[in-house]
Amino acid sequence: MTRFARRMAHMQATAEVVRYLFESMTDPQTISFGGGAPAREALPVEQVHEIASEVLTRDRRGMQALQYGNPAGLPDLRQAVIERLLAPKGLHASQENVLIVGGGIESLNLVCQLYLDPGDVILVESPTFVHAVQAFQLLEARCIACQTDEHGLVLEDVEARIRQYSPKMIYVIPTFQNPSGRTMSLERRRALAELGSRYDLMILEDDPYCELRYSGEALPPIKFFDQTGHTLYVNSFSKIFSPGARLGYIFTEENIQRKLYEVKTATNSHTNLVTQILCAEFFNRGLFEPHLQRVCEIHRERRDVLMDCLQSMLPAQTRYVHPDGGLFTWVELPGQVDTTAMLVEAVAQKVAYVPGREFFVEGQPSRNNCMRLSYGNVTPEKIRVGMQRLAGVIDSWL
Ligand SMILES: Cc1ncc(COP(=O)(O)O)c(C=O)c1O
Repeated sequence: MTRFARRMAHMQATAEVVRYLFESMTDPQTISFGGGAPAREALPVEQVHEIASEVLTRDRRGMQALQYGNPAGLPDLRQAVIERLLAPKGLHASQENVLIVGGGIESLNLVCQLYLDPGDVILVESPTFVHAVQAFQLLEARCIACQTDEHGLVLEDVEARIRQYSPKMIYVIPTFQNPSGRTMSLERRRALAELGSRYDLMILEDDPYCELRYSGEALPPIKFFDQTGHTLYVNSFSKIFSPGARLGYIFTEENIQRKLYEVKTATNSHTNLVTQILCAEFFNRGLFEPHLQRVCEIHRERRDVLMDCLQSMLPAQTRYVHPDGGLFTWVELPGQVDTTAMLVEAVAQKVAYVPGREFFVEGQPSRNNCMRLSYGNVTPEKIRVGMQRLAGVIDSWL
């Protein structure tokens, strides 16, 4: 059999966990806190149906939807990004600064193709997002983990690793982080942007949860503090519109955009125009803001129910994050419980989660007694039942 490319060897372990999780999510009897999906009740099915039947016609945008398009993306979707998503964050952009891509993961792939050679070092948070690590490994980058605490990346540790490894890039999810649910403080955002400039390395800021805020004050992104074009801001429409639409965007300086345009063209010409049009029309018709409010209400209730359950059902010494938004919380069980081993028992009891170990980069210290719980796509009733099951499993393991 023809040998697979060398880079595939790095990917096996993570890919298997992801497959296992998706399988447990499809068993209707299992209550899964595993995946990172938003609430199915929050998907704008009726509105998208109405838009599609109105605009995907021969005399409206049907031809445009089915023809080739601009690699940079649809102008009215880019305009919506500029005015409705970037401007409220204090980020000022023109069409030349925005590239529409096929979801958040594609942004990471494009940016890494642009900057990373095999063996280049990328610093990541510990813990961090599994799929991002897969994307970095696919390009044979070397991921080095940096310490985090309740305010995000510990910058003294980041600076020490910059000196030790001369990284090309730092990957960071500053708001309602995946997997921890934590948010990086304002001071650290500013300081991280400065580190990028001072050491001439790129900060890859991935911010797909920032709009999903249920409590507390919104913070400006790291990009807001970038004076030298060393921060790349990437975001996704998956949690605020639809993950199935596969849409995201990258905001950077024009000279970087010109290069990304070349990478995008070579990768897949341009992003799906059918979904770009549906999404652009969603914004153009003023549907986005009320939809986002509803999305936040649905998820806020789920977060509150989960927090109640964590407090009332799990052992008193359990530590967990109270997230101000997003879809995740991070639970640290007392003692030496190995949450990877415990998952087999949990799945037998029809409840699933992601073991903490999966979010730590291979070869770096990991925390085996942790787990990520995702509450986005579990109804409040099911959260209660699922947490009772999980509490039972944890009790028996302690
Ligand atoms: C931190 C982070 N970045 C990117 C993504 C990818 O989003 P998309 O569905 O747009 O590919 C996710 C999705 O879970 C995520 O958690």
